Amino acid sequence: MNILLLNGPNLNLLGTRQTDVYGGTTLDEIEQNAIEHAKALGFELTCLQSNHEGVLIDAIHDARTHAKGIILNAGAFTHTSVALMDAISSVKLPVVEVHLSNIHAREAFRHKSFIAPVALGQIAGFGPNSYILAIDALTSHLKAPDR
Ligand code: DQA
Repeated sequence: MNILLLNGPNLNLLGTRQTDVYGGTTLDEIEQNAIEHAKALGFELTCLQSNHEGVLIDAIHDARTHAKGIILNAGAFTHTSVALMDAISSVKLPVVEVHLSNIHAREAFRHKSFIAPVALGQIAGFGPNSYILAIDALTSHLKAPDR
């Protein structure tokens, strides 16, 4: 079974970007760890990062053809994008929303998520480990959707 790991704007700069908030781990390291962790659980994980809203929307649409679920860190689009919310509603794939930082403990504008109402759930605040927890959450849901 395949799952898609989708990262949004500015996350390509992880490792050098605001390291006091996001830490020193690069996106490449996060992706490699995610691929290995998913593999150990019997899932194939593919990764995509884009700074462009439309590319992320296309990737969500395309996921219907190759993935059973999506892990999404939409970056700042989390707080602005009705279009991403609609894309998730349209494809009917389970989506786990993930954030490195605890968005609820930060500025008020980060408390609002357009992804949360259409997501299976949200994991925020555990740094790179948020992605590992998201894989655990999504894969256990895919194995036993009714639990
Ligand atoms: C983020 C939180 C967002 O508010 C921010 O715009 C990001 C990263 C996180 O992973 O903590 O780009 O999604």
